Amino acid sequence: MTDIPDRPAIRTLIDVDPAKAQQVAVLRAQAASDPESFWLDQARRIEWATFPTTASNATFDGDVSIRWFEDGVLNASVSCLDRHLSTRGDEAALIWQADDTAVSRTLTFRDLHAEVCRLANALRSLGVKRGDRVAIHLPMVVEGIASMLACARIGAVHVVLFGGFSPEGIAERLIDSGAVTVITCDTSRRGAKRIQHKTSIDAALKQAGTICSVRNIIVVTVTGDTIPMTEGRDHRYDVLVPQQSPACEPEKMRAEDILFLLYTSGSTGKPKAMVHTTGGYMVWAACTTDWALSLKPQDVHWCTADIAWITGHTYVVYGPFATGATTVIYEGMLGWPQPGRWWEIIDRYQVACLYTAPTAIRALIREGDAVPERYSLASLRRLACAGEPISPDAWEWFYNVVGHQRCPVADMWWQTETGGGMLCLIPDAQPMKPGWATTPLPGLNAVLTTEKGETIPDGPAEGALCFTTSWPGQARTIWDDHKRFRETCFTFSPGKYFAGDGARRDENGYYMITGRMDDVINVSGHRIGTAEIEDAVATCHAISEAAAVGINHDLKGQGIVVFVVARSSKTAPSVALLSGIIADRVGRYAAPELIYIVSDIPKTRSGKIVRRVLRKIASGETENLGDLSSLADPAVVPALIKAVTEQN
Ligand code: WTA
Repeated sequence: MTDIPDRPAIRTLIDVDPAKAQQVAVLRAQAASDPESFWLDQARRIEWATFPTTASNATFDGDVSIRWFEDGVLNASVSCLDRHLSTRGDEAALIWQADDTAVSRTLTFRDLHAEVCRLANALRSLGVKRGDRVAIHLPMVVEGIASMLACARIGAVHVVLFGGFSPEGIAERLIDSGAVTVITCDTSRRGAKRIQHKTSIDAALKQAGTICSVRNIIVVTVTGDTIPMTEGRDHRYDVLVPQQSPACEPEKMRAEDILFLLYTSGSTGKPKAMVHTTGGYMVWAACTTDWALSLKPQDVHWCTADIAWITGHTYVVYGPFATGATTVIYEGMLGWPQPGRWWEIIDRYQVACLYTAPTAIRALIREGDAVPERYSLASLRRLACAGEPISPDAWEWFYNVVGHQRCPVADMWWQTETGGGMLCLIPDAQPMKPGWATTPLPGLNAVLTTEKGETIPDGPAEGALCFTTSWPGQARTIWDDHKRFRETCFTFSPGKYFAGDGARRDENGYYMITGRMDDVINVSGHRIGTAEIEDAVATCHAISEAAAVGINHDLKGQGIVVFVVARSSKTAPSVALLSGIIADRVGRYAAPELIYIVSDIPKTRSGKIVRRVLRKIASGETENLGDLSSLADPAVVPALIKAVTEQN
């Protein structure tokens, strides 16, 4: 680590530009005094076929209904592609860097537009209609981006699925979303390994059986590996798409028509698909890309997120393309085949804005400063990170060693539910504070509440992070489960959106995220519900009970520890078997650090697992377990500590 001199906590590391600060102050004042005209002004950032006459029609009370720009008509792909054709048609829209250093591909806006139109026509030729769901299961390749935009073009709803989901996880999501078509590939590369895409989809469809509505699979050739093809159902992208016309009339969508579903984890085992609609989401993607990243059309932007995450949706695809900037995507892994790979990509493509996750920063720090010091990194102007808390040390490293103390670091707090950044630094307009996600972006009304949901007055405090009013990028509901949406987000403090995170606020109104307040674990930026793990383990007949908790992990942020109770000590399953079950049911990314076989799990008298105690035991903090009087049987605790010590 670089030697970091002591500095006061809040610092003007990079001079605040008074003109920019003034501009932002005016925006905030307009948002506060006349939100309707403020939001309609923001709506001008994107292309509309019919400009909306109203902005917000949202209530967090009663049944909860969120609608924005309702009478507006648009197509998201037009804002991303068509409108740049006359000004930037021959400029690079998308640069794809293959895993192989020698292989890359650059598509101009015109090229990408043509590819998207061909694929859109191909989807139509397979009978995909407006409103149909199309699942996308691809690595970071051009076709992944083209698939999202092609769906948008014809008004189909894209559902991007993470490559790490098990076939079972895929099946569950294909059934829930009612997808009619899947776009996938043969296999993909992950370092020296291969990820099976097509065979996972085949296995998922087999498991899903007749309840699944998938009729067609489009298969992109990524590695050229041999894979089984089913006549009539499976189509080669290379055959189907090139024969299509490169022109495709964009479907005219209403602002509140669905643009995409994206699955995320909550407190219960069932994954939930957040519903994002067209107009508001696009406006919020464009607003936040400007405010937090200050992205300009001539900038080369690299957001390292996978398109299967919300960060990939908003800051790889929709935000940068709506801006007309050049987006870089990289097929490979961090530090593969050599530790300086990321820095080499930044120098090669003259990346101006790097947006990544704290988990990647921690991995890069491990490689040592000598690695980035071998590269110029002089093209960088902006740095951003999101997905989990960044420690002040990691922040300093990012700022000093990567940004050469020249690039503002935007620590952006947001969620799949929020569509775009929420708490974030506006570079050059405000001083930075390492480890703090800064202030709510213009137009947002954040508050902290007590555990009972009562609003805490302004000023330094700690509490639950809530928002009292809607914003355009907010998810409208959970697919097919509005009740769950209402109950998880709007009942904690009635009339407010509850984010699920705790936060601290300082005397300047800056916020720092203290972590999830619900049963969600954040492993390397992946959200995993404890119940997902517990439900998976419970499928093992030899197990009567399971409890998963998150503990601090140097590299991953949080790691998973699972406590399981076997039905009988004679038939206790092996740890390897249980790990295998979790990998099969949830995915390898959810692999626990440790599994302890114990005789009982601490619970309250009403039968609720007391995770606080389990977390402390799993972290080795057995000295101070806090108040155990609420436990149904406090004698469980010493037995548990003994079992854990013996198994360590
Ligand atoms: C966490 C990712 C601290 C938080 C964009 C949130 C963060 C969850 C930050 C959402 C940040 C995200 N600082 N924590 N800057 N950004 N989180 O839906 O707990 O995958 O609720 O969206 O990640 O994860 P999601």
